[in-house]
Amino acid sequence: MAKVALTGIKPSGTPHIGNYLGVIQPALELVNEFDAYYFIADEHALTTVHDAKQMRELSYEVAATWLALGLDPDRTVVYRQSDIPEVFELTWILSCVTPKGLMNRAHAYKDAVAANEAAGRTSDDGVSMGLFNYPILMASDIIVVDADVVPVGSDQRQHVEYARDIAETFNRIFGETLRVPEARIDDNVATIVGVDGRKMSKSYGNEIPIFMEPRAQRKLVMRIVTDSRAPEEPKDPSTDNLFRIYEHFGSPSDVAAVRTRYESGGIGYGEVKDMLANALEGRFAEPRARYDDLMAHRERIDEILADGAARAQKVARATLDRVRRAVGL
Ligand code: ADP
Ligand code: TRP
Repeated sequence: MAKVALTGIKPSGTPHIGNYLGVIQPALELVNEFDAYYFIADEHALTTVHDAKQMRELSYEVAATWLALGLDPDRTVVYRQSDIPEVFELTWILSCVTPKGLMNRAHAYKDAVAANEAAGRTSDDGVSMGLFNYPILMASDIIVVDADVVPVGSDQRQHVEYARDIAETFNRIFGETLRVPEARIDDNVATIVGVDGRKMSKSYGNEIPIFMEPRAQRKLVMRIVTDSRAPEEPKDPSTDNLFRIYEHFGSPSDVAAVRTRYESGGIGYGEVKDMLANALEGRFAEPRARYDDLMAHRERIDEILADGAARAQKVARATLDRVRRAVGL
C-alpha cells in the first residue's frame, strides 16, 4: 500500500514565502512518492478568524496558492477540512483518550497563558476551548487519512508529536487501529525569517505574501531589517536576515557570489534587496498568472475542492468505521 503524506494550511491570512519554503514546496516534492492529501484547515482558522466573508476569501486564497504553485488535483487530494465531518467525529473520540495535562503543555496554549500572566490578566483570559483543543483536531486531520508523514515547518513539530502520542495511546487502549504518523521537517527551511528577523508569521505581521503585487512586494523587501554596516565592511551572511531569505531564491551561482562578497566586504544591503526582489518576481511570475486566473474563476476552485472532498471522505469514512468498531460505538 502506498504511503500517505498529509499537510494543512490555515486560512488565517494570505500565504507567505515562509509557508512556501517551509511546507508547500517540500510537500509538492513528496507527491511522486506518496498518496498526498493537502487541505485547507478552515476549522483551525476559526480559532482566530471570526468573519465569514474573510474566512471564505482566505480559503480561496489558500486553495489557489496550492494550485498555482503546482499542485495537480488529479494526483493530489485537495479539500477543505470542514467538508469532512468525519474529522470532527474522530476529534471527539480522540479527546476521550487524550490526557488534559498533555493539552496544558501545548506551546500555543502555554504561550497564551504566559502572555496573560505577564500582563497581569487571569491566566485563561481570551483563551477559547478551540485554542485549547486545537492539537486534538490536528491529530484527527492526520489520523483520519492514515497519514505516514506530515511535512511542516518546525513550529508544528510538537503538534505532530501529539498526534503520534494520541494514536499510540488509542492503540494501547483499543488494540492496533490507527497509523502512527511522523513529522517531515526540512532543516534548511524549517524556520524562514520575516522582514523584522523573527520567524515569518501572519501573527507577527512580518510576512512577505507570495502573490503580492510585485511593486508592493519590492517595497516590503526594502523594509527587511539589516544592520548599519557600510558596503565595504565584511559581514557574516548566516546571521543576516536579508541573506537568509535571498539564499532560497537566488540561482546557486548568484547565491555563491553574493556569499563571497558578504565575507570579503564589498556588497551593500540595497543591492542584495534589489536582487531578492528581482528573484521573487522571476520565481513567481508564472504561478502568479495562474493564481490571478484561478481567483477570477472561483467556480473552478469550487469544483476541484468538491472532488477532493469526495475522495478524502471515502478514506475518512473507512477510518471512522474502524475506529467506531474498535471502541464499540
Ligand atoms: P503562520 O505562522 O504564518 O500563521 P501557518 O501556521 O498557517 O503560518 O503555517 C502553515 C505551514 O507553514 C505550517 O506547516 C508551518 O510550519 C509552515 N510555516 C509557517 N511559517 C513558517 C516559516 N516562517 N518558516 C517555515 N515554515 C513556516
Ligand atoms: N496547525 C497547522 C498550522 O498552524 C495547520 C494544520 C492543521 C496542519 N491541521 C494540520 C498541519 C494537519 C499539518 C497537518 O500551521
